[in-house]
Amino acid sequence: MSDVVFPEGFVWGSATAAYQIEGAARVDGRGPSIWDTYSHTPGRTLNGDTGDVAADHYHRWESDLDHIAALGLDAYRFSIAWPRVQPGGSGPVNQAGVDFYSRLVDGLLERGVQPVATLYHWDLPQELEDAGGWPERDTALRFADYATAIVGALGDRVHTWTTFNEPWCSAYLGYASGVHAPGRTEPEAALRAVHHLNLAHGLAGRVIRDLAPAARLSVTLNLHVIRPASDSAADADAVRRTDALANRAFLGPMLDGAYPADLLADTAAVTDWSFVRDGDERTAAVPLDVLGVNYYSTTLVRTWDGVSARSSADGHGRSAHSAWVGADRVDFLPQPGPYTAMGWNIEPAGLTELLLRLHREYPDLPLMITENGAAFDDVVSPDGAVHDDRRVDYLRRHIAATHDAMAAGVDVRGYFVWSLLDNFEWAYGYDRRFGIIRVDYDTQERLWKDSAHWYQHLATTDRLDRHP
Ligand code: FCB
Repeated sequence: MSDVVFPEGFVWGSATAAYQIEGAARVDGRGPSIWDTYSHTPGRTLNGDTGDVAADHYHRWESDLDHIAALGLDAYRFSIAWPRVQPGGSGPVNQAGVDFYSRLVDGLLERGVQPVATLYHWDLPQELEDAGGWPERDTALRFADYATAIVGALGDRVHTWTTFNEPWCSAYLGYASGVHAPGRTEPEAALRAVHHLNLAHGLAGRVIRDLAPAARLSVTLNLHVIRPASDSAADADAVRRTDALANRAFLGPMLDGAYPADLLADTAAVTDWSFVRDGDERTAAVPLDVLGVNYYSTTLVRTWDGVSARSSADGHGRSAHSAWVGADRVDFLPQPGPYTAMGWNIEPAGLTELLLRLHREYPDLPLMITENGAAFDDVVSPDGAVHDDRRVDYLRRHIAATHDAMAAGVDVRGYFVWSLLDNFEWAYGYDRRFGIIRVDYDTQERLWKDSAHWYQHLATTDRLDRHP
């Protein structure tokens, strides 16, 4: 028998994000966010897709919660749209927006599902971007006010509060490479954004501690598993640099209370970091109950030798501007397949490696896989089903990789599949489908793919058939 058994209490969940599923972009007082502006700008998203309607979850939330319950899931990770709660990003709250999330949380609790709420999954109110966005310190202060409003309203009905989803993407894709909203390409602004996101995390974390003392506090990071192209010292240096930008720029302040010295040195030509004020790094290091880990694939780097053709296959979209501020001599190399429809290489061992590293560096911090999943070109078969074997295989292998880390002593509390539903995949629009439930965008009909049935079995039995 090759069954792997997960411990009792291991949390099985699924994840979504507000702008990717809700639609109802101009309903009930919601204000515009940077993703409304960006997706409505010609040329920014594939096929010009926008989140105006998305999976219409704003109107279908009750039946979507019924799907979550029918899947037998313990928890649901969703995000709250700041511009629904505070349409302009500051000032009075929009009660209709607060009420929507309050009903959602109650609906989850009624169904016996733990609400795991993310305060920010990339949808900054446009008014705040007009005032400078995340490169401005004031945005962090406004974020703390927003946290006060929504955490005050939902409190510890929410089981786990997550301040940010993947601040790496907000800072570097939003302000350096420009492949995400707001689409700016200003290296210094990206580093300022890194800092103000870290600061905002600490400020909001303290608000959560005060207003929802019984809830758990977390943040979700997309930590990169970075490998060198060779065992040369030059390639080891490429790993060190990218690790500083991708991983330690957040782990440092959030968990150790300080930016790593090599990050500051590597980026000295871009900025002197004087926007970091005394005490900010300590503020960022609010104690966490659990760290959320998003994992999809690995990264392969080398230091450019000055002659070879440059390569920028970092998996984060195409841009003439690099996301890797201050790492001008680092090349990102294509990796061996197989690949998902995103072009991302499939490498489950990278997840085990990442969990082991985090456990080694932060042995007392429990971990949670808050996203993992795959886009494939699904087809509805003549029998009316979606036989998404490759997604099932991807999930099975990554969940087994999670178990490998647990068997080696890593404290992993749960796993959330990305995603519950097909949805608006940012710059790739509706073209890339990550759901275990298919969404027919013409009718908004939901259809369980084979992966949903498979995941239901896992979530209700805690048993994974490792080698079917
Ligand atoms: C992550 C995002 C999530 C989704 C997946 C595929 O970076 O957090 O919203 O787009 O990638």
